[in-house]
Amino acid sequence: MRKLNIALPKGRLGEKAYKIFANIGYGCPEILEDSRKLIFENSENGVCYFWAKPSDVAIYVERGAADVGIVGKDILLEGGHDVYELADLQMGKCRMAVAGKKGMQPSGERTIRVATKFPHIARDFYDKKGLDIDIIKLNGSIEIAPLLGLSDVIVDIVETGKTLYENNLEPYETIVPISARLVVNKASFQFKNAEILAMTEKIQKAIAERE
Ligand code: PRP
Repeated sequence: MRKLNIALPKGRLGEKAYKIFANIGYGCPEILEDSRKLIFENSENGVCYFWAKPSDVAIYVERGAADVGIVGKDILLEGGHDVYELADLQMGKCRMAVAGKKGMQPSGERTIRVATKFPHIARDFYDKKGLDIDIIKLNGSIEIAPLLGLSDVIVDIVETGKTLYENNLEPYETIVPISARLVVNKASFQFKNAEILAMTEKIQKAIAERE
């Protein structure tokens, strides 16, 4: 059995994903200890986990530093990473949406100023509509952009909608539903094919049973 290197996104989603791995025979109990350690190996179960920044997981997988990883579909769409997407974990569910001030949806007659952390997703969405936009790339707290007149709309993640609501904003349109995905390095998929397929099958079964 060849060892699988698994990149987990630091945070709640990564912890939930780890529980799935642990339940299907890929446990590594040390990972649950309260420490600052980032890499954990359990040779008995043939796994090595590491915690990465959520937006970096796909890079580790694409470049082969990790064989598999858990990544949000938003990050995959934005980054266009060259990896295989093998399963939808049906967790971390939210949507990518266009939003803005209540009742102020722009008509599209003038260039729309779009504030976002996801410039590629935004560009792609408006290109398909044939609308001209001016992208303002921000790194967080996107919701304040239309409130301060920096942008006309935002393209951002909406989960409960609470952040929009509490800031007098509203969703205008959904771009795409988002959830966590199991991704695999393309070379690893060849060289560790049996191990990766066995893991993927067990994950898919575990997800189906949860639903
Ligand atoms: C995300 C997103 C929204 C919020 C949506 O922000 O950018 O701000 O969650 O959640 P809601 O619909 O349940 O209110 P995140 O916490 O990732 O922080 P950010 O400001 O750095 O983007």
